Amino acid sequence: MDRTKFVSERELEYQRECTERVRAMNAGMTAFVDTYGCQQNEADSERMRGMLREMGYTIVDDDKADVVVINSCAVREHAEQRVLGNIGHMVHYKKINPEQKIILAGCMAGEETVRQTVKKSYRQVDALLDTTSFWRLPETLLRLYEQGGRLIEHAEPDSRIAEGLPVVRTVPHKAYVSIMYGCDNFCSYCIVPYVRGRERSRDPKDVVREVRELAADGCHDIMLLGQNVNSYSGGGVDFPELLSRCAEVEGDFTLRFMTSHPKDCSHALIDAIAAHPKVERHIHLPVQSGSDEILRRMNRRYTVEQYCELVDYAREKIPGVIFTSDIIVGFPSESDEDFEGTVELVKRVRYDSIFTFIYSKRAGTPAAEMDDPITHEQKVKRFRRLMALQDEITLEDRRPLIGSTVRVHIDGESRSGELNLTARTQEGRLVSLKGDSGLIGTYADVKVTDITTFSLIGELK
Ligand code: 5AD
Ligand code: SF4
Repeated sequence: MDRTKFVSERELEYQRECTERVRAMNAGMTAFVDTYGCQQNEADSERMRGMLREMGYTIVDDDKADVVVINSCAVREHAEQRVLGNIGHMVHYKKINPEQKIILAGCMAGEETVRQTVKKSYRQVDALLDTTSFWRLPETLLRLYEQGGRLIEHAEPDSRIAEGLPVVRTVPHKAYVSIMYGCDNFCSYCIVPYVRGRERSRDPKDVVREVRELAADGCHDIMLLGQNVNSYSGGGVDFPELLSRCAEVEGDFTLRFMTSHPKDCSHALIDAIAAHPKVERHIHLPVQSGSDEILRRMNRRYTVEQYCELVDYAREKIPGVIFTSDIIVGFPSESDEDFEGTVELVKRVRYDSIFTFIYSKRAGTPAAEMDDPITHEQKVKRFRRLMALQDEITLEDRRPLIGSTVRVHIDGESRSGELNLTARTQEGRLVSLKGDSGLIGTYADVKVTDITTFSLIGELK
């Protein structure tokens, strides 16, 4: 059953009114949106930049701007500390520019503990704007300008979808398309369901229309986004069907998606990837642990065997497909034996790369209440062992590519070194190469001359 509710046209109209009123008083002010965390936040930031631009701000990359929106991540404590540290520094900028408005947006803004901390100890923050209500940015700024004071009261997550927000894309040929918001999985370590609210899916017609417009606009890299895209359910359409409809849109582009939960990743999805050459030959399939007992305690609702069955099926149906994963080490009470299970799984799947995290306790989640007798040193040791193992696998599996020719899309400039361009293969692997910056946004054939754990090194043919 479709439970999705949309923000009404009347409410969106009110935001447009607020936009006009801020614009009328805006005499050349600047705005900066600083993004932490995942692609979902990147996508939200692009919309916030769009709204700020409509309010007359010049978008800059500078935390001394007249408006600073910090789009934060709450997934691990370390990320939160970084955000709070940066907000701490901003107290000086505000002394120089007392009219500066600082808004803490993103996942941290939805946490009650953060709200309390900000209220008491970070008085430079003018407003909190959680991920479910960032479409109220115009109203928030107008209230700050007209009424003064701070807007940091508690707000319940707003489980609705706001369509039609403006967008400023960071890279013209690359776009994120959110297909759903929120998460209902409640993995026991994860704070996301508490801060991003209940799962809700966009209408498939809106998604396909957006993909069509992007493709017509010459966008080459389109990523469908959701916390768990496999539980997409909009207007009676499931994710394999939505992916197929998007892949059938005319145009020269690669379709990617993020993130797949293994419990909902079906053979139908794998068949849909296999059937559509526009879909990237890559599945990011976070396994989190290679121990059935830990998976049970994580509330992941699949077993190692079920996971491996999916991987095997995909490898049979999609020649050359690569897998990447997220893995948490040191989940409460993870024994040596549990950890060996993860090592075995990594050896069995042979991922192209993995993101490894040391478990971070998040207040309010069930795992935060579990006994955790393992020392931090033990966790760090496991973390390092897993990283070293994956590096070995990555290098071994990429070595045969040396000397071959791969088709890539040239994405952009790299920040350092002689290899000034970055590109991506059809499997989404990063390629570093030397070439004219005029090639950005085009496809090219590249000879692989070397490999690293991070990227392939290539030469234009
Ligand atoms: N501690 C460590 N890692 C976590 N992740 C989510 N919550 C936590 C946590 N409390 C990781 C998971 C997820 C990725 C985005 O972040 O691996 O897939
Ligand atoms: Fe967090 Fe699990 Fe939802 Fe991913 S699927 S956002 S890990 S609760």
